[in-house]
Amino acid sequence: MDQLFTLADFEAAANQRLTAMASEYLKAGIADEITVRDNRAAFDRLRLMPRLFIDVSRLDTRISLFGCEHVSPILLAPVGYHKIFHPEGELATAEGANLANATFAAATFSSFPIEEICARSQRPMWFQIYVQNDRTFTQTLIERAISSGCEAIVVTPDTPVNGPRERELRAGFHLPPGVERANLRSLPPELANAPHRGIFTPIRAANVTWDDLKWLRKICTVKLLVKGILNPEDALRAVDCGVDGIVVSNHGGRGLDTVPATIDALPAVALAVDGRVPILLDSGIRRGTDVYKALQRGATAVMIGRPFIHGLAVAGPEGVARVIQILRTELEMTMGLMGRSSVREI
Ligand code: FNR
Repeated sequence: MDQLFTLADFEAAANQRLTAMASEYLKAGIADEITVRDNRAAFDRLRLMPRLFIDVSRLDTRISLFGCEHVSPILLAPVGYHKIFHPEGELATAEGANLANATFAAATFSSFPIEEICARSQRPMWFQIYVQNDRTFTQTLIERAISSGCEAIVVTPDTPVNGPRERELRAGFHLPPGVERANLRSLPPELANAPHRGIFTPIRAANVTWDDLKWLRKICTVKLLVKGILNPEDALRAVDCGVDGIVVSNHGGRGLDTVPATIDALPAVALAVDGRVPILLDSGIRRGTDVYKALQRGATAVMIGRPFIHGLAVAGPEGVARVIQILRTELEMTMGLMGRSSVREI
């Protein structure tokens, strides 16, 4: 790890260790991967304009989110099946998040049950929910997460059907032996183990509507976020439904191809939300300057997906923590060079 200095270094190192199937699954975007590339290109197009003669001898990356202090505005996004990338899967990720004092959102499609992940975590966890066709089961899953100590539920409605994931198909992606959707164990096996193929998938409901969001708001006794917002009208409607936060995300370019880069979608969403709830952003964050640009355009925090999995694949918990640390240090450097000593000043 001593020779890995950037998130790109971690990606290259992870690709050397992972099977072709695992690294292709992780890298995959949808269809022609135009949005995957644009997520990066849009950050790269933006230029920063620094201010001079500002005392930056103290740099403070702390933020307050939902009344909790976070050491930096960098959180871990929900990603399925961590066991594909490390034998200890989400348990190792939770440990890495602990080492870095970062918040980790575990996915519905975790390879360990949410109870075991929370037991390993010394920090408050978040849990991502894909609404299931069986709404009673969905509610039970949310209740399990909350009683395990999760402080927020993140609902992801941006992939009601599958898109054409040709990279996964070419790599022959399947869940390897020993990797399961552990949170779905109590469902019938043909459902819990269904492959991600075709338009419809039995493991994510395709009939999720605003009424479901209102229902989730009623049953969810902790913070509720909607992840996958790009359209300001959806942001407004989610706020009207009483959500506590939104995540501007295009699923890392894995949902619908040719949707906008998130950093391009953010300003209109921020304008519509007008500070009523915090906005998080993910998809394409690879440098401290990217985090800075997201905060500058109205995000309270960012999430990273693939980069921490690269850390997990390279060095387990220490790798996850190192990736977060690199990004946080780069953010501090950017703040200092921009003449902003705290996140508030950004
Ligand atoms: C994801 N993402 C995701 N999102 C979600 O809400 N539930 C999930 O189960 C998953 N699973 C998943 C698997 C893999 C392999 C990847 C790469 C991504 C999307 C994820 O939360 C996040 O939005 C993106 O990963 C952010 O983009 P970057 O940081 O990977 O560019």
